[in-house]
Amino acid sequence: MTQDTALLAATDQPQGATALAERKVFIKTYGCQMNVYDSGRMSDALAAEGYVATETMDDADLVLLNTCHIREKAAEKVYSALGRLRETKKARAAEGREFMIGVAGCVAQAEGDEIARREPAVDVVIGPQTYHRLPQALKRARSGERVVDTEYALEDKFEHLPDPTRVKGRARSVTAFLTVQEGCDKFCTFCVVPYTRGSEVSRPIAQIVSEAEKLVAAGVRELTLLGQNVNAWHGMDASGRPIGLGDLLYRLADIPGLARLRYTTSHPRDMDDRLIEAHRDLRMLMPYLHLPVQAGSDRILKAMNRRHNAADYIALVERIRAARPDIALSGDFIVGFPGETEADFQATMDLVETIGYAQAYSFKYSTRPGTPGADLPDHVAEDVKTERLARLQELLLKQQQDFSRSLIGSEIDLLLEKPGRMPGQLIGRSPWLQSVNVDANQSKIGDIINVRITAAGPNSLFAEVAEG
Ligand code: SAH
Ligand code: SF4
Ligand code: F3S
Repeated sequence: MTQDTALLAATDQPQGATALAERKVFIKTYGCQMNVYDSGRMSDALAAEGYVATETMDDADLVLLNTCHIREKAAEKVYSALGRLRETKKARAAEGREFMIGVAGCVAQAEGDEIARREPAVDVVIGPQTYHRLPQALKRARSGERVVDTEYALEDKFEHLPDPTRVKGRARSVTAFLTVQEGCDKFCTFCVVPYTRGSEVSRPIAQIVSEAEKLVAAGVRELTLLGQNVNAWHGMDASGRPIGLGDLLYRLADIPGLARLRYTTSHPRDMDDRLIEAHRDLRMLMPYLHLPVQAGSDRILKAMNRRHNAADYIALVERIRAARPDIALSGDFIVGFPGETEADFQATMDLVETIGYAQAYSFKYSTRPGTPGADLPDHVAEDVKTERLARLQELLLKQQQDFSRSLIGSEIDLLLEKPGRMPGQLIGRSPWLQSVNVDANQSKIGDIINVRITAAGPNSLFAEVAEG
């Protein structure tokens, strides 16, 4: 047996698997891509303890809510879900069957003790920096303790998590997320992230390259690097020279078998020259950039502590477009930030007209206790926010549809990702992250094929295989 197969055998039969066999975990993920990545890693940590992932709550022995705190509604959802889980726990107790409830993610971090106080049915509360300790936390909970573990661990959780490509039963895909950076030091006045995820930490380059290589060896063709503020990533090359996200992308682009790279989410202030060069030089860096601006009024941007004005943002987008002309932009917007007047809102509409987005997310400002925005005067009335959001979304939707329609008739590369609904049909991803349906009998998942776009629906595109 080679060392490699020995390792595989060891992880395929985790210690204690027989004792803990048959336990099933259902993980419900709320929030951003980083939570999606974390849920995968938590599932790996639990697999090493004999837990098998399940898609339904009904047959789960453990339900883990991986939560989001970004807007009030997101946080509220957690408490209503917990109310329902409490009832399930009661019913299971009557049957004499174990049912454990865990809360992870950003609500766990922000309101750990509060969750434990409000919802006694919760067994474990675990923060985004401590989830490698989840198996121990469950053991402690099983012996009667209520565990709230949300401190910022001194150890690096990534060093303590199982290798995702060696976990038995791990769903495989040709696309994968890879968290390279966590936390945020920007302190936008509306945002909870610096409080829930802590200050910026970059994973070391060797750890990232190693994880990327393993994912590629396991069949991944497209990698999306993740960070709450991913373009603030920094590290050191082999000679000790400080490097940034641009250099990291050049390094990852050398991995044989990797076909596509993306990264998200970026702050306009951290788009440096090297990163823009990477967009110019690396064909495998997809021509699609999520670059939130939040608002178009300089007064509001200042109150938001975004540290750039509208002109800076427009100039930056021009430089990026000069480097990579086929790049499409996506963004995030907040309407109704405290003090936003109709003229301020109009400046957001004007900026959207100037930039032209292929895709965007827009939200009504939600007051987050503990953030500086909560204490600002002149909060905007709910009906005004609703009305402005509708106007903004109408414009953004039109831009999105215009972008999709502009592709009709053109040939593009498609990464085939999963089977479609019809026999012979596959669903792939365009370079601009659109879902594309194609009849491609001769191709298989993981192939990148040339297709011609034939039609654009509201949520996806349709294509035929291009000849030649
Ligand atoms: N790090 C990313 C954003 C993370 S949060 C960035 O800097 O852009 C994702 C989005 O949620 C934000 O871009 C913002 O548009 C929105 N958001 C954050 N806090 C919010 C709040 N209090 N109310 C409404 N939307 C909010
Ligand atoms: Fe939040 Fe601003 Fe940091 Fe983005 S850059 S995570 S919006 S504080
Ligand atoms: Fe939500 Fe936390 Fe992500 S607050 S958006 S899950 S970083």
